[in-house]
Amino acid sequence: MKSFFIGNKEVQIPIIQGGMGVGISLSGLAAAVANEGGVGVISCAGIGLLYKRTPADYLKDSIWGLKEELRKVREKTNGIVGVNIMVALTNFADMVRTSIEEKADIIFSGAGLPLDLPSYLKPDSKTLLVPIVSSARAAKLICHKWSTNFNYLPDAIVVEGPKAGGHLGFKRDQIEDENYMLEQIVPEVLEVVSQYASDKKIPIIAGGGISNGEEMLKFINLGASAVQLGSLFVPTYECDASVKFKNVYIDSSIGDLSIIQSPVGMPGRAFGGEFMKSAIKGEQKPKGCPYHCIKTCDYANSPYCIMKALFNASKGNMNKGYAFAGANAFLADKMSSVKEVIQRLKYEIELAQIKFDALLLQAVK
Ligand SMILES: Cc1cc2nc3c(=O)[nH]c(=O)nc-3n(C[C@H](O)[C@H](O)[C@H](O)COP(=O)(O)O)c2cc1C
Repeated sequence: MKSFFIGNKEVQIPIIQGGMGVGISLSGLAAAVANEGGVGVISCAGIGLLYKRTPADYLKDSIWGLKEELRKVREKTNGIVGVNIMVALTNFADMVRTSIEEKADIIFSGAGLPLDLPSYLKPDSKTLLVPIVSSARAAKLICHKWSTNFNYLPDAIVVEGPKAGGHLGFKRDQIEDENYMLEQIVPEVLEVVSQYASDKKIPIIAGGGISNGEEMLKFINLGASAVQLGSLFVPTYECDASVKFKNVYIDSSIGDLSIIQSPVGMPGRAFGGEFMKSAIKGEQKPKGCPYHCIKTCDYANSPYCIMKALFNASKGNMNKGYAFAGANAFLADKMSSVKEVIQRLKYEIELAQIKFDALLLQAVK
């Protein structure tokens, strides 16, 4: 596995751990991945619920929670650690400002277009900015707006395909459509980015459904500098979710995965379980909205409160929530350490490289 640069930071292995809310990737998982030479990412979605104080104040508790997680992660690693901040969050600006003030290495931002993200940087800010997109069109728009309005280009771009877990930047009918496959979108984004990157190299990071070293190599051979992995890191000792949440991954089969319509207004992939069946029947309708956490959520017409459902699941209360998961999450069959996951990927990528080189040699002969 080759190192690569995001801005001035050299990432020793080409692996970014995808931010996973609510409470799935916090300082524990992020530090473990960063200690292996990848980029660890704290998700700040719903962090105010995890750090609820009395009297509760979701917005203030979120700022405090993020500061705490960034403090804890620094006690565990000197590696590279980012924060994932969804544009759809009502406290997006608070989370971005806090990350920059607390000197997070990188902000990853998707679930919407982070068109004004560079406006939060101060002249002495060190935080790097990495948007997450699902199309070349979105990558172009961000590069155009950022360069025109802020004289800034993304420090890297994550391209997330339709096999990812969590919210998906695709319409339902695009999810199975071959034209929207990650293999299709990565070269399109590379093409767009090549028109902008002259002095600045913008590495492309491919994510969504990648489950082994051979698939990693496929995207690296397509021109990606690294991959973003989420689901592979869930059934690990270091993942911050409850063991019950992790066991959903280990005990599941492919038929347990489904595409759900999220109150955020985007489709999502999840192990929906009994909770989702009950929500579809209209049994989980929220009685009120204590957090106002998602800009696009119309709680009066929502089948359930997504923040509560994801929070409950992260605590292992699977009857009152569900687990987001990538298309290959059902392949998990045991709990491992982050080190073991990464060692397996290294081994598989080496094997895949040998296979690839042999095929190439045969073709040349
Ligand atoms: C449990 C879970 C929670 C997630 N939460 C977020 C999130 O809060 N913000 C975000 O941008 N992406 C989120 N994602 C997407 C991941 O960051 C990652 O890009 C994606 O899962 C990659 O696909 P994979 O899981 O197949 O590796 C989540 C994914 C999972 C599985």
